[in-house]
Amino acid sequence: MSSYNLLMLPGDGIGPEVIKEVERVIAWFNKNTQIKFETESELVGGAAFDSHGAAISENAMDLAHKCDAIIFGAVGGPQWDNVPFEVRPEAGLLRLRKDLDLFANLRPAICYKALADASSLKRNLVEGLDILILRELTGGVYFGEPKEIIDLPDGQKKAIDTQVYTTSEIERIARVAFELAKTRKGKVTSTEKKNVMISGVFWNNVVTEVHKNEYPDMELEHILADACAMQLVRNPKQFDLIVADNLFGDILSDEAAMLTGSMGMLPSASLGAVNEETKKRNAMYEPVHGSAPDISGQGIANPIAEIASFAMALRYSFNLTEEAQLIEDSISSALDTGIRTPDIMQEGMQKVGTHQMTDAILSQMNLKS
Ligand code: IPM
Ligand code: MG
Repeated sequence: MSSYNLLMLPGDGIGPEVIKEVERVIAWFNKNTQIKFETESELVGGAAFDSHGAAISENAMDLAHKCDAIIFGAVGGPQWDNVPFEVRPEAGLLRLRKDLDLFANLRPAICYKALADASSLKRNLVEGLDILILRELTGGVYFGEPKEIIDLPDGQKKAIDTQVYTTSEIERIARVAFELAKTRKGKVTSTEKKNVMISGVFWNNVVTEVHKNEYPDMELEHILADACAMQLVRNPKQFDLIVADNLFGDILSDEAAMLTGSMGMLPSASLGAVNEETKKRNAMYEPVHGSAPDISGQGIANPIAEIASFAMALRYSFNLTEEAQLIEDSISSALDTGIRTPDIMQEGMQKVGTHQMTDAILSQMNLKS
């Protein structure tokens, strides 16, 4: 019997609603399999700010360091628009990424067959789409110093963000890209803006070196980030795995997500390096969709991204490939029955809420196991 310790961080908006659903899936494993999960829960984001004035507490950080994996909901909302920048809800998420060194962010964009018509692109462009955006998550302009607004002698102000990458930061994300490519189609597309940014030239060079020295059998192509954004909507299936820095990865992953029909569908994994001694890695699993304040509290949020994020935890933290597949197949089959949450609603389908969508996924899991 294996047993794992999960830290649940529901956060704000629809975060707690979808976390509640993933807890039902976790309970299903505890009841029906030999795998046991213990869960603890802590505040993050605006909820943490309201309760103790910081976007994440030291106790929560402590638990985050100790647990086997974090299952994250979402943070943010208009009620915290005016809190100081340092303690805004997103700061909790950024601290988790940075302190746990979760440098590799995997964002699959998979178009479920049943949802190809929900995409804003034509069915033939997105049907069967299965690409992976690999985003560098702990470097670049998100964290570079200086990061400030300063006063100029003439009375103006000047704002500075700093885009910065070291050799090793690029090498390690490039290695993750090529390792993942081995399990996919053997092809990596690396993207930057080397035509205007010196850090882009550097990114391109380092990825090229890693390829030449360590992964000569894989295919590597480079594309400028703006062209990549354009090609993603022109012909997304030309890509298999796109590796990008923190900022371009943020933007391109939202774009890729939308190709699949709904942001409400997409999971993500944020992974640290494997510790040589313990063989464990820090990891956090999180839906791409965010806190969606406009629909929170109504019981209509789509729980699929959160549940699929848990499936990624099974795969990437616990090596439970079959169990991950069981969840993913059950999501697909649940959609095949014609039920839809409002975000993916189409004509002729049956509209359901958050809880009913999970009911359907759980009954598929019962049928398939
Ligand atoms: C994401 C989000 C975050 C980011 C925000 C909430 C800070 O957009 O995970 O993509 O920009 O990284
Ligand atoms: Mg984003």
